[in-house]
Amino acid sequence: MSNAFDWKQLAGKFIVFDGPDGCGKTTHMERLQAMAEGAGLTVRRLREPGGTPIGEQIRDVLLATKNEGMDVRCEMLLFMASRAQLVQECIRPALTAGELVLSDRYASSTLAYQGAAGGLASDAILQVAEMAVDGAWPDLTIIFDITIEAAFERLNPLYSKKKSAQWGLFQDRIEQRDHGYHERVRQGFLEQ
Ligand code: TYD
Repeated sequence: MSNAFDWKQLAGKFIVFDGPDGCGKTTHMERLQAMAEGAGLTVRRLREPGGTPIGEQIRDVLLATKNEGMDVRCEMLLFMASRAQLVQECIRPALTAGELVLSDRYASSTLAYQGAAGGLASDAILQVAEMAVDGAWPDLTIIFDITIEAAFERLNPLYSKKKSAQWGLFQDRIEQRDHGYHERVRQGFLEQ
């Protein structure tokens, strides 16, 4: 990025980094955070699901492998519930204070995972999102793309040595889903 870039214009802005598991969004978000802080901005970095004490409890329920039987509607509403708390407790106050808010995932993830991959209609998800985010939509959403094979190799270094490995080597309940699910997630992001 050129030295002439005026970082102050990012004060009070909200940027989301999103994409399939293993796409590298978190690394890039950390780089932007370092550059913005170097330029004197206050940065509020968040992660979804979670980011608040209540949201972290919801995250545990969402990602626990024992909750295999969770219906996709329940799943979508829990992601949104965590997001609603994050908006009121962190995002809105930080934006009002002129901080740069960076979030690892947001409603774009729900559209890809519970929508494109999980089968819920985008319109229905967006209706619930309107209620959950209460007007706090990002100024910019950056979607990173990666093939499922490359993501799998990144997340499972042993994979390239043992090509017969199962997709189940992904760690949490959502990451453990099969190749077809992750392919639909990727398509859901590409469509956005
Ligand atoms: P996490 O460990 O935070 O993954 P990552 O580091 O890739 O962000 O786990 C979050 C998981 O939840 C991830 O597999 C994506 C999924 N997810 C949804 O299915 N819907 C959502 O709305 C969000 C925010 C995440």
